[in-house]
Amino acid sequence: MTNRVAVVLAAGEGKRMQSSLPKVLHSVCGKTLLGHVVSAVNAVCSQIIVVIGHKGDEVKKACGEQVHYVRQAQQLGTGHAVQQAEPLLPASGTVFVLCGDTPLLTAETLQHLLAAHQEAQAAATILTAKVPEPFGYGRIVRDGGRVVKIVEEKDATAEERKISEINTGTYIFDAQLLREALGKLHTNNAQGEYYLTDCIEELIRKDKVVTTYLLPDYRLALGVNDRLQLAEAQAIMQKHINEKLMAAGVTMIDPQTAYIDADVKIGRDTVIMPNTVLRGATQIGEQCIIGPNSELIDCQVGNEVVFRHSVAVKASLADKVTVGPFAHLRPETVLHSGVKVGDFVEIKKSDVGENTKIAHLAYVGDAQIGRKANLGAGTIIVNYDGRKKHLTIIGDEAFVGCSSNLVAPVTIGDGAFVAAGSTITKDVPAGALSLARAYQVNKEGRAARLLKKKTDE
Ligand code: UD1
Ligand code: CA
Repeated sequence: MTNRVAVVLAAGEGKRMQSSLPKVLHSVCGKTLLGHVVSAVNAVCSQIIVVIGHKGDEVKKACGEQVHYVRQAQQLGTGHAVQQAEPLLPASGTVFVLCGDTPLLTAETLQHLLAAHQEAQAAATILTAKVPEPFGYGRIVRDGGRVVKIVEEKDATAEERKISEINTGTYIFDAQLLREALGKLHTNNAQGEYYLTDCIEELIRKDKVVTTYLLPDYRLALGVNDRLQLAEAQAIMQKHINEKLMAAGVTMIDPQTAYIDADVKIGRDTVIMPNTVLRGATQIGEQCIIGPNSELIDCQVGNEVVFRHSVAVKASLADKVTVGPFAHLRPETVLHSGVKVGDFVEIKKSDVGENTKIAHLAYVGDAQIGRKANLGAGTIIVNYDGRKKHLTIIGDEAFVGCSSNLVAPVTIGDGAFVAAGSTITKDVPAGALSLARAYQVNKEGRAARLLKKKTDE
């Protein structure tokens, strides 16, 4: 691996995407196109060089420090792009060249390609595929089985255009021989570009061994050029992710509507119900029921959790928590084991202790709540005074009656009881009953008059 370097071409604009975002930064299953390529390449190469150009700074920012960058100021062709990386290439060793827009390429495919390259002791090995519609691709021209050259669609003869074996744009080269071949490139072709593919013909002219590895499933070579191909790549990858999860013991009631990002982890015997979206770094334990109609982004979920018709972002849910229907858990929400969060409850930046119940219609923000507490329907934590957020502390086994406002900063002690309809502005000691509402006045016989007036109108 030490002398294996990858050059990833990502300088093009990708005009057909019709986007202000550079093509390689579009996402499939929660990761950018370039991110998928870099992940696959990471498994086989010790160093990755990304050739940037169009909106290069954006690409650099998104892809980060894990790779090296070289700039291609003008996009004069794939050969010209690799020439920009030349100063960073090792004197000897192996160079992978890939495009930044092939998200379905896997580390496994690259390993097969490398094995073919090593076995043939080749100067170059091309990853090829046989496709039903080869239009637009470079074709692999052979003579008696041996590769002669790669010809681009625009330069091909009618006969060559009938060839269904195409160049996927992924290759391995011997570093030294690639360097020499790059020096010979010219723009004498239909597009007036420096074609990387011409290096193949040059190596063959020098009697070097050029071999190929044919991808068994041509769809894995899919390059994304427009939104339709982006959706195709998404569908293929989603199917792979879901099949892998099912093979590992996850039940999916309707895999077609389970949208699960590439890095999500799910434990055995968990059931994913229809219309469930699991994104980012979400991890889910065993024997949970997730969905239907739910979205979890960057969440940590324990075992035996039930999460129905709800949304959670950057929240942590311990074992046996139940959420929903129709709850919203916002960042920094921590629910300890056995917590029950019911319908129309929003929780933000709060720690909720074991077996506490917040069963209906509540807002909880910036709170620390103990164990076995009960927040009644309509409990509102008034955490914001228009300028600052304040903390509310609720003790173990405290009971907050329905429609109470807890005006922060405030503390409700262990085992305290807040009467329904209270607006609490001062601390409530442990064990105390607190009433903070107007007293009720009953006026005998006065109802009839009011009701009469109403019907007279
Ligand atoms: C290239 C191959 C073709 C192959 C196809 C597979 C050449 C001449 N042709 O076609 O045989 O079938 O890929 O998709 O290589 N790029 C740069 N700088 C440039 C030009 C391109 O970085 O100056 C990058 C693009 O951003 C893209 C990749 O190289 O990621 C491929 O470019 P693209 O224009 O899509 O490929 P083609 O030239 O059409
Ligand atoms: Ca092109």
